[in-house]
Amino acid sequence: MDMFLELDGQGEVYRQLHRALRQAIAQGRLREGAKLPSTRELAQQIGVARNTVLLAYELLCAEHLAVSKVGSGTYVARGTTPARTVLRPKPAATLLPPPSRYARRLRDTDTTWFRPTGQALRFNLQYGTPMVDVTMYSAWSRALAHAAQHTDAGYPPTQGLPALRQEIAAYLSQRRGLVCDADDVIVVNGTQQAVALIGRLLLDEGDRVVMEDPSFKLARNCFTAQGAQPCFVPVDDEGLQVDALPGGPLKLAYVTPSHQYPSGVQMSMRRRVALLAAAVQRGFWVVEDDYDGEFGLEGRLQPALASMDTAGHVIYVGTFSKMLLPSIRMGYIVAPRALRDDLLKAKLLADIASPGIEQVALAHFMKSGAFERHLRRGNLELRRRRQALHEGVARWCGDDIVLHDNGAGMHCVAWLPRFSFEQTQRLIDLARSEGLGLHAIHNQYQHPPRHPGLLLGFASTSVAQLRGAMKLLGECIQQVHAQQAAAEPKTAICTP
Ligand SMILES: Cc1ncc(COP(=O)(O)O)c(C=O)c1O
Repeated sequence: MDMFLELDGQGEVYRQLHRALRQAIAQGRLREGAKLPSTRELAQQIGVARNTVLLAYELLCAEHLAVSKVGSGTYVARGTTPARTVLRPKPAATLLPPPSRYARRLRDTDTTWFRPTGQALRFNLQYGTPMVDVTMYSAWSRALAHAAQHTDAGYPPTQGLPALRQEIAAYLSQRRGLVCDADDVIVVNGTQQAVALIGRLLLDEGDRVVMEDPSFKLARNCFTAQGAQPCFVPVDDEGLQVDALPGGPLKLAYVTPSHQYPSGVQMSMRRRVALLAAAVQRGFWVVEDDYDGEFGLEGRLQPALASMDTAGHVIYVGTFSKMLLPSIRMGYIVAPRALRDDLLKAKLLADIASPGIEQVALAHFMKSGAFERHLRRGNLELRRRRQALHEGVARWCGDDIVLHDNGAGMHCVAWLPRFSFEQTQRLIDLARSEGLGLHAIHNQYQHPPRHPGLLLGFASTSVAQLRGAMKLLGECIQQVHAQQAAAEPKTAICTP
């Protein structure tokens, strides 16, 4: 690779070259461990004799800035790269204009997400980590390799490749009851991009947005970063309490009807009807995030809310993050026609289009039947894992855990009615020290629930691991009880 080297024209050329290389190392442009070009290559590149480069390299080695490895080449020595702050000095704030209001709001936004634990855990019941299936991986790798050779090298269409949109439309009609065609589908980079684009298009500062309580933080943050005001509406056993919608103008409501995130509740039919009626009467949009609607108890899974929308108020958002892998960053929007063209312009300005190779691969993966087979296998495996979790809770956790699980999705909720919030934190800390990753649900509520609880994600944990994890959970619960009993003041025993 060509290197930018500025010779200063002072003195002998090999010394000029040595100074230029030394500067590149000092500035971190040549980083430690980097291989320097061969002497022949660099000599050709800057138009000097090969010996000149050799001499410059020897000087670097003599100063321990580079090391020469026989038969391999010359490398920048370890410990030579400056700290990051030196590499990128902070601009003088006083001379720069202030950032936008959007950027200032972002600075106040908590964007922690899948915080790394910094510790290897034996079991981690983290929601959102994918179910890794070897068969799917090999089919997906083949589809990707094939796509890499057969994808048009130019920019893909902003709306998404027609072949993929067709597959998505067929999937939605068949499995989510949402009758649409390829023209209705916009391919995006996951739910997150969908929500960000929708927020940008629909929300002005001060607009009021209905959020479920509890809700998905990253979606909420997209809206508040736009300057919108979230209005939290509680969720009960039937989903969003539609009769608790606040009065006054509302711009949109963001909901997860198939499997409320994070409480796991499925929105009842009467609430769906009530929400759609309210949206029409009061004139607000509904964003339906169907993030893991695919996985559920066959027969009990309800069709998407958007399939009931006859008035064009629902913007449907789906993702391949749960059905396939979060790392492919692929999702889709089915929007009412009135919004589709605006969304396409916003998508064009955001990133022109989603990556073409992945789209070709996904279209092929779906068309070949590999996707359908993967969903079938995934559903079976999830059922086994869910059952292992239920059995483990019943066996090891007794009355301490009340499991809330409607059989859909990849997580359930373990409520801890006998624990205080503080004890639950102790349980989480203790479990972590024993190698079990537990994650609270109660801190995802605006108005704390009656009891503390845990969000148990089980997609990425095998049946055997889940058995071990539940046994460990039971032991940790007992330890917390024992600590509590030891800490409580003993009642004095009075002898007559
Ligand atoms: C409620 C909800 N929506 C969507 C997603 C997926 O987002 P994306 O499609 O951007 O990966 C998640 C991921 O955990 C989620 O919890």
